[in-house]
Amino acid sequence: MIVPWGDVLARRAPAAEALHAPELTRTVKHQAAEQLAAEKPGAAPVSADALAKAGLIDRAQRHSRISEEFRIIQSKLLREAFGGNGVAAAARGNLIVVTSALPGEGKSFVTMNLAAGIARQGDRRVLLIDADVKPDSLGQIMGLSGAPGLFDLVRSGSHSIDDLIVPTTVEHLDILPPGTGAAESAELFASKRMAELLEELGQRYADRPIIFDSSPCLSSSNPHALAPWVGQIVVVVAAGSTHQGDVEAALDLVQNCPSVSLLLNKIAPWNLHSFGSYAYPLPSSA
Ligand SMILES: Nc1ncnc2c1ncn2[C@@H]1O[C@H](COP(=O)(O)OP(=O)(O)OP(=O)(O)O)[C@@H](O)[C@H]1O
Ligand SMILES: [Mg+2]
Repeated sequence: MIVPWGDVLARRAPAAEALHAPELTRTVKHQAAEQLAAEKPGAAPVSADALAKAGLIDRAQRHSRISEEFRIIQSKLLREAFGGNGVAAAARGNLIVVTSALPGEGKSFVTMNLAAGIARQGDRRVLLIDADVKPDSLGQIMGLSGAPGLFDLVRSGSHSIDDLIVPTTVEHLDILPPGTGAAESAELFASKRMAELLEELGQRYADRPIIFDSSPCLSSSNPHALAPWVGQIVVVVAAGSTHQGDVEAALDLVQNCPSVSLLLNKIAPWNLHSFGSYAYPLPSSA
């Protein structure tokens, strides 16, 4: 089934502030798995600096247009995940995968800021899972290169999930790195054990959103493999550059997920209908 364009959830995507955000520096810090493991428990949290490199919007911009946009999307995802306002919670709704048709459409930027945005609200812990296999994935940018994570949990039952989760300097926001052995990730994503792990994650952390930063649908089978086992998928679409045919092909590939939303990203400010006349007062302290 193709989700009709009329069902687009979040047209009000990132705005002027985001488009003018400084280019992120993709610096990869290396931290050996052994080192991280040795530091557990109480491993050093991912620093504010590393989170900024991963695209986190500064809290000082909490009244900016882009932050407002993210809050609208967050509410929709949380309602679907946990119910509220007369809406029942969707099955496995707290498992949310962020993907796109093509590389570079903004998946990691969106994942980072959705996860941090919900965490900053203070009501719930949030677990961000880096489920991408590329060399400069979120986990690597955050200095977690080589740290055990998702793939290790799938491969071996000897790890405890709690031990592999890394805290961050954003209160209530934790990260699970991709882990070691990305070369066999396609098999791991399609495995029965992955499905079981997702079930376990969803139940064990039933009170928190678990947001996966995934690969592009059209160049990786991983989002397709995750789709039946999660409650929500957000397909990020780079406005003005991604062809509708590619978006439709991506939607086809994740149709096994019960709730698929489109998020139009990188909208030029002159195309924005949202908040056009919405003057939010900037705090003098910001
Ligand atoms: N709304 C936005 N405003 C400003 N910059 C953005 C926005 N969305 C994404 N970017 C920037 O665009 C670049 C690509 O974004 P990002 O890395 O999130 O894409 P991706 O889909 O995760 O890419 P990949 O497929 O390679 O993982 C980054 O430099 C990011 O900071
Ligand atoms: Mg990415």
